[in-house]
Amino acid sequence: VKSWVMAVTAQTPTNIAVIKYWGKRDESLILPINDSISITLDPAHLCTTTSVAVSPSFTHDRMWLNGKEISLSGGRFQNCLRELRSRANDVEDVEKGVKIAKKDWDNMHVHIVSYNNFPTAAGLASSAAGLACLVFSLAKLMNVKEDHSTLSAIARQGSGSACRSLYGGFVKWIMGKEENGSDSIAVQLADEKHWDDLVIIIAVVSSRQKETSSTSGMRDTVETSALVEHRAKVVVPKRIIQMEEAIKNRDFPAFAALTCADSNQFHAVALDTCPPIFYMNDTSHRQVLFLIISRVEKWNRFEGTPQVAYTFDAGPNAVLISRDRKTAALLLQRLLFYFPPQSETDLNSYVIGDKTILQ
Ligand code: PMV
Repeated sequence: VKSWVMAVTAQTPTNIAVIKYWGKRDESLILPINDSISITLDPAHLCTTTSVAVSPSFTHDRMWLNGKEISLSGGRFQNCLRELRSRANDVEDVEKGVKIAKKDWDNMHVHIVSYNNFPTAAGLASSAAGLACLVFSLAKLMNVKEDHSTLSAIARQGSGSACRSLYGGFVKWIMGKEENGSDSIAVQLADEKHWDDLVIIIAVVSSRQKETSSTSGMRDTVETSALVEHRAKVVVPKRIIQMEEAIKNRDFPAFAALTCADSNQFHAVALDTCPPIFYMNDTSHRQVLFLIISRVEKWNRFEGTPQVAYTFDAGPNAVLISRDRKTAALLLQRLLFYFPPQSETDLNSYVIGDKTILQ
């Protein structure tokens, strides 16, 4: 056999944190200063599709993201590739009549082709879906036999939040205590069917790339913020317990209160950084005011209980979580009226995290 290619394709959805990770205690291993909890989205909407291939004709590892070649020389990619290669096993394709022995993986090169079906690096957790998908597809290609929690620890070294995208539903990233990061892994709290009334709407205020990367933002926060230690040591541990309880009981009022409060505190800590980091823009602030003053409170008074929670990541785009489809449809109507799509790139402004609302 002269030449051949073996390939694997995988799809991984992104995840949105409701208790945020912000701050590392170890930058190269990506170990966080607090636990976090997220919801993994429906893969039909925000996901990364990655194909990985191996062939004896490949002379070095290469990667293309959204059609453009990118460098794999960064420490994060290298850490993931090294961890995976060290766990690779024999791979055989009987039809092609080829076999890669475990010991040969060190000399085999891979090509990686990855597409996001949503804006990259605009605070929509593209790196979470991307790195989780890269690790998962390479693990399949290399016949890595580790379970999801070990794969989550590998994906974590590519991008912290990526470890949570290895599972569907509600996921907790345990910060862990070990210096080598072996116990800093993701675990599933509840699967995607547990609370499937929830509808997630992402209001894309801007699909421009964010100005402060989460890596440098977190570094500056940990070095300069006077509030972040209090958040990590006192506030988040309590919230994690309360959030786990709210998810277990499908208690929307508690879930919404915790989600909004934690988003607010994350942005307060960003603002408490020197120089201050502004991830939300004027439109984001107006959306929060609109939700609090006009909608959420009216709905609260009307229905006696919160109907919508909001959360913002490292960007201006609102993620709105409504308690059911009826509320989501109403919310979407109002959003389109008060916040019409602003530009051509943002034409597809409202990304629905649950396809059933469109039916
Ligand atoms: O994993 P990173 O470096 O993309 O950081 C993610 C940080 C937040 O999205 C703001 C919070 C989180 O927990 O996902």
